[in-house]
Amino acid sequence: MDQPPLTPMSLRALLGRIAHEWESRGRIFDLMSARIWMPDPEIDLSFDFLGRRAATPIGPAAGPNTQMAQNIVLAWLGGSRVFELKTVQVMDDLDIARPCIDMQTIGYNIEWSQELTVAESIDEYVKAWMMIEILKRWEPLRDFVGVDSGPLVFDMSVGYDLEGISSDKVRTFIETMMDASERIEALRSEIPEPFGEFRDLDFPTRIADTLTLSTFHGCPPDEIDAIVRHLMDEHGLDVIVKLNPTLLGFDNVESLLHDTLGYDDVTITRDAFDADLQFDRALGLIEELGEHADSLGRKFGIKLSNTLVVKNERGWMPDDPMYLSGAPLHVIASTILDRLVTALPGTFDLPGEDGTRIVSFSAGVRKENLADTIAMGVGPVTMCTDLLKQNGYGRLVPMLKELTAEIASSGHRSLAAWRMEKLAQARAAGYRDWVAGHVASIVNENIGLYNKEGNSKKPREVDSKLQMWGCVACNLCVTVCPNDAFVKLPSPEHLADEIGGRWQYVVFAELCNYCGNCLTFCPEDGYPAEIKPRLWLDESRFVGAAGEGQGFRLVATDDGFVPIAAEGWESEVPTLTAVISGDQGVPIRATDV
Ligand SMILES: Cc1cc2nc3c(=O)[nH]c(=O)nc-3n(C[C@H](O)[C@H](O)[C@H](O)COP(=O)(O)O)c2cc1C
Repeated sequence: MDQPPLTPMSLRALLGRIAHEWESRGRIFDLMSARIWMPDPEIDLSFDFLGRRAATPIGPAAGPNTQMAQNIVLAWLGGSRVFELKTVQVMDDLDIARPCIDMQTIGYNIEWSQELTVAESIDEYVKAWMMIEILKRWEPLRDFVGVDSGPLVFDMSVGYDLEGISSDKVRTFIETMMDASERIEALRSEIPEPFGEFRDLDFPTRIADTLTLSTFHGCPPDEIDAIVRHLMDEHGLDVIVKLNPTLLGFDNVESLLHDTLGYDDVTITRDAFDADLQFDRALGLIEELGEHADSLGRKFGIKLSNTLVVKNERGWMPDDPMYLSGAPLHVIASTILDRLVTALPGTFDLPGEDGTRIVSFSAGVRKENLADTIAMGVGPVTMCTDLLKQNGYGRLVPMLKELTAEIASSGHRSLAAWRMEKLAQARAAGYRDWVAGHVASIVNENIGLYNKEGNSKKPREVDSKLQMWGCVACNLCVTVCPNDAFVKLPSPEHLADEIGGRWQYVVFAELCNYCGNCLTFCPEDGYPAEIKPRLWLDESRFVGAAGEGQGFRLVATDDGFVPIAAEGWESEVPTLTAVISGDQGVPIRATDV
């Protein structure tokens, strides 16, 4: 099936959707109010990110969860306060093969770069920034986000070589993120009611001035060195280098994956490891780039880790190689951290080390290991795989609650004080620090969280064929969609028997990129992205995609939307009209389109 480009919704449509959903069903982008993070005034979860304060230490990692404005807002509502934005690069017209996300057990993907153009990415980040600034202050949300939702950080991510990063396109991206005043001015007039009072808001114009460099597999060390210097020297940025798990070396990774964790179905190749940064060179690089940062008065850190390149022997996604994330990556990344701390004592900003280089961490973090991970002193802890599982962004609040409870039960009131106690506990148990203790625990008493046996349960299946109307109404397609393309609408009472079930599901076709995640999680037999009604707002896109199955264009009129069907689907128009027109109907307002 031809892939129409992912088409962002306008700021007006998104804010209108927020207002409509909140008013009609007490949700925002389908996130229920119980999954909106309300900070606990007794427990301070804030931390220092390259000299900036962030109110919680968690957030979405660069990936599908930070590509579109609505996703970033969802992550903020869930309590994220650091956002590693989707990697932007000069080649911004890529064709990504589909499906590109496979979260059946651990995590695999072939989605190796942003799908939007650089100009669209800028707008998505500016729109997300403006929406968060508005929602922070929006009276109806006060009881859900608190009077002070706390500081947050947008962290840019760019890749993948010096030539691309020095190009006019990427330079403009970085400069706009550092001073977005023009884009903000241009977007102000799009702010609809009931947010009119914010049209004159003094939005901070510096959206980001830190950057995490995504080093793709095979990026030579000299190139990494030159890119970081360029970003610091030319742009005045504080920089984190995202390292690859290949740093641990082929034999170590193979032994961990196969012998320790039992992933006998995962194949890695020696070439991929030989082409990547080697451990000893990484030590030199960390020291040299740290010194360079110091000489400029800038800050420098590392991130562990990017995904692991593996052979695609599953055949579910079309490209080879593919990239592994999730549980096993946690063991590899934590082991690398342990070795780096041993090799570079006093370098990292971790309890007991007292260095200055922060360690950002993303590798198989989920509710069950968040506190143990954070206790290592790493921060932020960002996630991708976990947010692509059942409940999606709704998984964040339970994580933060558990972390808060753990700190509270220790008798401490801040992350920093609690971490010092964890250090003392690790030392009392005979470890150098909590990092060493954590590495021991994840291959011993906690191995079930990380090994193949503990991660082989597949999503539930039921014996029925997915239909356009009616289904088991599990809501999974809504929560696992990284782009929030699905919405759930109540069945009109008079049609409930005829079309089956209390709930109906429709897809905003322009937000769906056939990533495959709803196909993985839907318990019925069928691909929700293809089978459920696909709604188009843009006429030109609809005409081009009309042959794509059950497409319907929503034509905005004074009385709401009127659907026009693609050829062959005309008979469904009355049902669709009834479904989208109820009180809790389609959450886009015709007046905003
Ligand atoms: C579907 C998908 C897309 C990703 N895209 C990017 C990207 O654009 N840039 C990047 O630096 N990392 C990307 N990553 C890697 C994540 O940012 C993260 O480092 C990695 O997945 C490990 O974290 P996790 O185990 O929580 O997923 C992607 C990961 C996934 C699963």
